[in-house]
Amino acid sequence: MITSLTEAPPAPPLRFAAPEGDVARTLLVPLWARAEEQRQPRPLVVDPWACAMVAAFDYDFGVLREAQASQLGCCVRAAQIDRWVRDFLRRHPDGTVIELGVGLNSRSARLDNQRARWVDVDLPEVIALRRAFFPDTARRTTLAMSITEPALYRQLAALSAHGPRLVLSEGVLVYLPPTEVRAVFDQLAHALAGAEVIFDLMRPPVLWCQRGHDAMRHFEAKFVWSEWSEAAVRGFAPTLTLATEVSFYSLLYAHPERLPLWMRWLGPQLADRLPDVRSLYTVLRGRFAA
Ligand SMILES: C[S@@+](CC[C@H](N)C(=O)[O-])C[C@H]1O[C@@H](n2cnc3c(N)ncnc32)[C@H](O)[C@@H]1O
Repeated sequence: MITSLTEAPPAPPLRFAAPEGDVARTLLVPLWARAEEQRQPRPLVVDPWACAMVAAFDYDFGVLREAQASQLGCCVRAAQIDRWVRDFLRRHPDGTVIELGVGLNSRSARLDNQRARWVDVDLPEVIALRRAFFPDTARRTTLAMSITEPALYRQLAALSAHGPRLVLSEGVLVYLPPTEVRAVFDQLAHALAGAEVIFDLMRPPVLWCQRGHDAMRHFEAKFVWSEWSEAAVRGFAPTLTLATEVSFYSLLYAHPERLPLWMRWLGPQLADRLPDVRSLYTVLRGRFAA
């Protein structure tokens, strides 16, 4: 197992304002979730960088104090993706991991094996912040571009031309209109043929209920992309094969003691009567044909 914590968390004297863009600002939720997770006796994600970054923001993270389910949710999702990234790095220690909409995620530091290359992509205002914490190195490149820009995909192809690549996005595509998500998959399929891919997928009922979301109700950004089935995503990129789909429900309810009491009771009741509840939100892993 890779347990590298060789890159020290940033020292805290810097102060930062929260990002101004509505979508960019959402990075605060998973960042806060990973920082909170460090209070657990056995954190699902070990992320001292998140604590240092939360401490550096002039932002009242107290608004999220009731968001217990989202806190756990962000961490089980991150931990699942970490398992898949570690698996990729075990098979391809010199491969390239491309993270789209990376926010202030420390994955390229916390999973680094001292050999892989990392390409971290996000909007310019986010990358300006990110570079203060995670400077570029010989093996880590940060790109300040929207994932809707065609020029990005030419750069990704050039940066990862030397070997196996994994492209992932965590909690990002849901903020893009469906036509833009389609274009992202289409461009990935062409520019990164042969790459492995990881992303998360919501079903429409999650969007219908987002007003009641324990964390997102404090933010202006809205979830706008969902699909009834993963087959729709394969329609965006016919060369895409999806091998594994893990239900967020199963990840979340593996830790019922950490959920609010009402969710502990209601979730299993609903899932028994309406089994589709288990697949309302999933994390998927697949590959584009070479
Ligand atoms: C909820 S945050 C998730 C951040 C990170 N993946 C994590 O799990 O910590 C959503 C991120 O997607 C980024 N994002 C949204 N739309 C984007 C776009 N068009 N291009 C690049 N990044 C985008 C936001 O700036 C933000 O950092």
